[in-house]
Amino acid sequence: MIKKAVDVALNEQINAEFHSAYLYLSMSAYFLSEGLAGYANWMRIQYQEELTHATRFFDYVNERGGVVKLTPIGEVQVDFSGVVDVFEKTLIHEKIVTGLIDRLMEISIKESDHATKSFLQWFVDEQVEEEANVDQILRNLKLIKGEGQGMLMMDREMQTRVFVDPFAGAKA
Ligand code: FEO
Repeated sequence: MIKKAVDVALNEQINAEFHSAYLYLSMSAYFLSEGLAGYANWMRIQYQEELTHATRFFDYVNERGGVVKLTPIGEVQVDFSGVVDVFEKTLIHEKIVTGLIDRLMEISIKESDHATKSFLQWFVDEQVEEEANVDQILRNLKLIKGEGQGMLMMDREMQTRVFVDPFAGAKA
């Protein structure tokens, strides 16, 4: 049976992951409104990935005999000042999520919950990758400096991203 402090923190993380999904879907909508289909696609897939994170936490709470309590998802930004602005905000957001995962890990250690520590390790590693990916996109954008040809090429590259369920085949 899961301890109360861990149950509460995991429930907060379910909400945070849905909030991330909502934010990235909002960014996707912004890109669509700007006629940037490739960037919109990248954010749409980011949204889908966040949904898998949320449901993985959801399933884990249930597996451990905890109680899932879904709470309202906070408002997200709907307007942005360009592609660089969106990815800068994405990087800031992912760093916040990394902090939340680290905090969850600390709570699990404090509560001697080894199963949750093991479960969280995937997310610790995922956050390293998430931050690195967004940082690389930002570096590329800064090299292009908003130049039309480069922006278009990058938009086409972003269009090639496909969704792969990271938990496909994993126990529900
Ligand atoms: Fe679920 Fe982008 O971290």
